[in-house]
Amino acid sequence: MFKSMMEGVPLPLMITNSKGRILFVNKWLEEFMGYMHREILKNNLRDLCAPYEHTRYIFSCLPDIERTTEVDIDFYRKNCDIFTANVSFTPFYYQQAQYLFIIFRDVTSRRLREAKTREDEERYRKLLAERNMLQDQLHRSSKVAFMGELAAGIAHEINNPLGIILGFVQDISDEISSDNSLFESIKIIEKETSRCVDVVKNLLDFARLKPPESISVDIVELFEGSVALMMPGIKKNKISIKKKFKNKPPTIKLDPQLIQQVFLNIIINAVQAMPDKGLLTLGVNLVHKAWLQETGDWIRITISDTGPGISEKNIHRVFDPFFTTKGSKGTGLGLSVCQRIMEDHCGKIEIENRKGSGTMCNLYFPIKD
Ligand SMILES: Nc1ncnc2c1ncn2[C@@H]1O[C@H](COP(=O)(O)OP(=O)(O)OP(=O)(O)O)[C@@H](O)[C@H]1O
Ligand SMILES: [Mg+2]
Repeated sequence: MFKSMMEGVPLPLMITNSKGRILFVNKWLEEFMGYMHREILKNNLRDLCAPYEHTRYIFSCLPDIERTTEVDIDFYRKNCDIFTANVSFTPFYYQQAQYLFIIFRDVTSRRLREAKTREDEERYRKLLAERNMLQDQLHRSSKVAFMGELAAGIAHEINNPLGIILGFVQDISDEISSDNSLFESIKIIEKETSRCVDVVKNLLDFARLKPPESISVDIVELFEGSVALMMPGIKKNKISIKKKFKNKPPTIKLDPQLIQQVFLNIIINAVQAMPDKGLLTLGVNLVHKAWLQETGDWIRITISDTGPGISEKNIHRVFDPFFTTKGSKGTGLGLSVCQRIMEDHCGKIEIENRKGSGTMCNLYFPIKD
């Protein structure tokens, strides 16, 4: 009777334990979220939500709810669309344990219905998308800042002893002859220690604490210089280059060393994505673009490749520190470093899949008076 009743009420309903673990959902909820019954059960409701700070806070309060509480929360559908739902949590007790009876209402569609004209609808959709993007960036930035502090602490401690070990190993390796039974072992120690030194160097770059320098620079020259540095890798992978330099940008102030690092990281990713032939398209143009309050003129530098692109599942994670799909060949810090440097320059970085195949990275540098 209980089950038929729950299935009969035409509302998305759910029951969780006090920590948000899903114990029951009705068919309306399956339809609402786009998940099958078996995919959703035993998960935590928290895992279906957009990972914002305030959502985490709401979930930490669940065990303490004493009466029906309503709150708007952003959720992911199975197809990764974000939508806002008004969620009402009602606590109840069964055999001394607390449970939550949860009703969902899609506020997105209600707000869309309320919008009088298509224009209103469009504006609202755009606002929602921008809000999602900003929330995402905020989330990413706070995570990156935290990882930065952590990395700085660890890397500083490890850097000196590693340098010393590598120095001694190189001394031994120079002295020892190749027929010595330990020769191979010493070479392996040397190679692996060098790898650790590289990882620590990346960590230190990532955790860089000094503010960027501000030097007047011709950004196109800097961009072309960075591409020139990568020519050996580009040629080795038989990659052709197409340049689409539309306007001549004005000179802007930036830290050339850091921005070169951004260009190199992104070009390296593109080259790695095209191990056997491909097309690297480099673009420079001036754009007028708005990010909520930040309307203005920007220099846009575009680097696109014809590699396999980034899967839907991973595209939201590429700026996460240590996220890599390259196994031991990547540290997963390249793009997090780029994002951090761009933020320090009041710039923006975006990565998207190109239509057809491949990845496109856009870097936006503000043009100020
Ligand atoms: N041009 C690209 N094509 C396909 N996937 C990409 C591209 N750029 C980035 N990615 C994906 O984003 C992930 C993170 O990139 P990131 O540069 O931060 O780290 P990494 O390249 O794996 O390691 P590192 O740069 O530290 O050597 C990559 O592992 C890859 O899955
Ligand atoms: Mg990389």
